[in-house]
Amino acid sequence: MIRVGVVGAGYWGPNLIRNFISCPATELLAVCDLDAERLRKVTSPYPAVQTYGALEEMLQRPDLDAVAIATPAGTHGRLGLAALRAGKHVLMEKPLAASSREAQELVQEAQRRGLVLMTDHTFLFSPAVQRMKALIDSGDLGDLYFIDSVRINLGLFHEDVNVVWDLAPHDLSIAQLLLPRPPLSLSAFGASHAPAASEQEDLAHLSLDYGDGLLATFHLSWLSPVKIRQFIVGGSRKSIVYNDLEPAEKLKIYDRGIVIHNEDQRYRAQISYRLGDVWSPHLEQVEPLQTLVQHFARCIEKGDRPLSDGLFGWRIVCLLEAAQASIKQAGARLVVQRPAEESLPRLAA
Ligand SMILES: NC(=O)c1ccc[n+]([C@@H]2O[C@H](COP(=O)([O-])OP(=O)(O)OC[C@H]3O[C@@H](n4cnc5c(N)ncnc54)[C@H](O)[C@@H]3O)[C@@H](O)[C@H]2O)c1
Repeated sequence: MIRVGVVGAGYWGPNLIRNFISCPATELLAVCDLDAERLRKVTSPYPAVQTYGALEEMLQRPDLDAVAIATPAGTHGRLGLAALRAGKHVLMEKPLAASSREAQELVQEAQRRGLVLMTDHTFLFSPAVQRMKALIDSGDLGDLYFIDSVRINLGLFHEDVNVVWDLAPHDLSIAQLLLPRPPLSLSAFGASHAPAASEQEDLAHLSLDYGDGLLATFHLSWLSPVKIRQFIVGGSRKSIVYNDLEPAEKLKIYDRGIVIHNEDQRYRAQISYRLGDVWSPHLEQVEPLQTLVQHFARCIEKGDRPLSDGLFGWRIVCLLEAAQASIKQAGARLVVQRPAEESLPRLAA
C-alpha cells in the first residue's frame, strides 16, 4: 500500500482523492488545502482522512509515502520541492511547473533523492490515446504527415494561467507520446479579450514543425460557443480521428489518403484519392485517472520510471514557455530547446 496525501481540494483535487480511495494499491491518509471550508466539504465523506491547512504540517507525517499536488501552477515549484525535500514521492498536476527553471529544479531534486516524480498528463492513460500510440508504433499509418487538434469551448477563465498553459498541456503531451521525434521549431499566435487587468490570452494557435514534412497545429480557445475535442493524426496510409466527446466510438481509423502516380517524373506526377474503409476499434471503458494513480503507485513500489515522468513534464513546460515567447513576439518561429536525459544528475552508485 502506498500511503498518499493530496494537496489542493479545488476543482481537480477531488478527482485525485476519489481515485486514490478506490485504487487498491493506495491508501489516502491526508488532504491539505488553505481553504478550510472547501477542505471540510471535500473530505466530509471520508472521516478517516486527516485534514491540514498547511503542507508543511502534512509533510511532517512519517507514514506518508507520496504527495499529489493539485494547486494552481504557480505554486507547483515551491510545494513540489518541499514535498521532495521531505522525502515524499510526488504526483504533480499538469503543467509540472510555471517555468522551465522550476521544472528543472523539481526533476533534479527528485533524481538526486531517488524519488518518483510524475506529471499528471491524464490523457496519456486514456484507452483512446494508448490505442492511437499502438496503431502509430505498428506502422499502420505509414509516414506521419500532420496532427490537427482542436480543443475549444466556452472555457473557465483563470487568473493565473492563459489558455495555452491551461489547455495545451493536454494536446502537447499526447503529441509528445505519439510522435517519434521532438519538434524542431514552434510558432504561436494568441489574443486576449478579457478585461485588461488579466491580459491572459483566451485564444491561441500553436504550430509545431517536426521536420521532414510533419507539422502539428493546436487550436485552443475559451471563447468558442461549441465544445470540440478533436485530435487528428494524418499518415501516408491511414489517418486517425480522435473525438473525445464521443461516448463510445472515440477513435475512427480512415483508410483514406492521396496516391501519387508517376512520382519519379516530377512534371507529370498525378494525384488521386484512395477512399477505403472507416472503422472504430473497441476501447475499454476505464477512467484514465484510475489507470494513472495505479501506475504512480506501481512506479513507487517497483522503482519504475513513470510514462509521464518529471523529464516528460519538463519538456512540455519548455514547449509552453516557447509558445508564450512566440506569442509575445507576434508569432515568431522559435527553435525548441528540449532538455536531454543528460540534464538528470547521476545518482551515486
Ligand atoms: N489533469 C487534468 O486534466 C486537470 C484538469 C483540471 C485542472 N488540472 C490542474 O490541477 C491544478 C489545480 O487546478 P484546479 O482547477 O483544481 O484549481 P482550483 O483553483 O479549483 O483549486 C486549487 C486549490 O488549491 C488550493 N491551494 C492553493 N494554494 C495552496 C497551498 N499553498 N497549499 C494548499 N492548498 C492550496 C486552493 O485553496 C484551491 O482549493 C492545476 O495545476 C490544473 O492545471 C488538471
